[in-house]
Amino acid sequence: MRALFPSDWQADAPYEDRDLGVLKAGKESEVHLVARTGATRTCLMAEKRFKPRLQRAFRNDYLYAGVWGEGSRRESRAIRKRSRFGQEAIEARWMGHEWETLVRLHAAGVTVPPPVERTPDGYRMAFIGDGERAAPRLADVDLDLVTARQVWRMLQTEIRRMLEAELVHGDLSAFNVLWWRGRPVIIDFSQAVDAIVHPAARELLIRDVDRTAAYFRRLGVAIDPGAALAVVGDSDSRFARQVLSS
Ligand SMILES: Nc1ncnc2c1ncn2[C@@H]1O[C@H](COP(=O)(O)OP(=O)(O)O)[C@@H](O)[C@H]1O
Ligand SMILES: [Mg+2]
Repeated sequence: MRALFPSDWQADAPYEDRDLGVLKAGKESEVHLVARTGATRTCLMAEKRFKPRLQRAFRNDYLYAGVWGEGSRRESRAIRKRSRFGQEAIEARWMGHEWETLVRLHAAGVTVPPPVERTPDGYRMAFIGDGERAAPRLADVDLDLVTARQVWRMLQTEIRRMLEAELVHGDLSAFNVLWWRGRPVIIDFSQAVDAIVHPAARELLIRDVDRTAAYFRRLGVAIDPGAALAVVGDSDSRFARQVLSS
């Protein structure tokens, strides 16, 4: 399938960035629209900014604590004890985690906004939309039945590709998929987990498939959950093999 963005979509350096305002403000983050103008063109970026610590509640802490690679012993101990230093450490890992997940998924060919760069409080990626409007979320779109069937198939392929990249999205639903030019574009990787080592990976994969399927079922698509899980690459034997061979 054709790439969502040409490889040279970004404005060349030297460039100037201009914040065009908030696209969406959420509990834990804000997404800004930023225009980057270089010598020959302007490109549009979405910048996700995480709110400062203590202004936001940490959801599902257990998903993060201690599973994101190697921190220092002091860090791990602080995270376990939920100290302020620990909270900062979780936050730093969380922001880095979302960015690194985006980079990995993009490299694996999953349809995501192309990553641009990290910032002190978040990261930048391609803006999905154009000068007129932002891409709507799938949840805000009513697809006709024929299109809905096609998009459900596309999304199963995307989930499969994520799993092959050893990642489970963890918060997938029609709210974290943008709909643009006939393509579903997956966003929001704050809850992504390692498919192989995370103890809840399989449970999260099943939930991702369930929640995403719910949107398509509402539109009249007939869905067999077991078959869908097989299509995305889940089977006990596959998981067992992966765990054994890792
Ligand atoms: N790359 C993007 N292009 C266009 N809109 C985006 C992009 N990333 C996020 N958004 C908008 O911002 C909203 C919030 O982003 P998301 O990553 O889902 O954060 P949250 O953690 O608040 O759910 C999305 O629902 C979407 O409307
Ligand atoms: Mg979201």
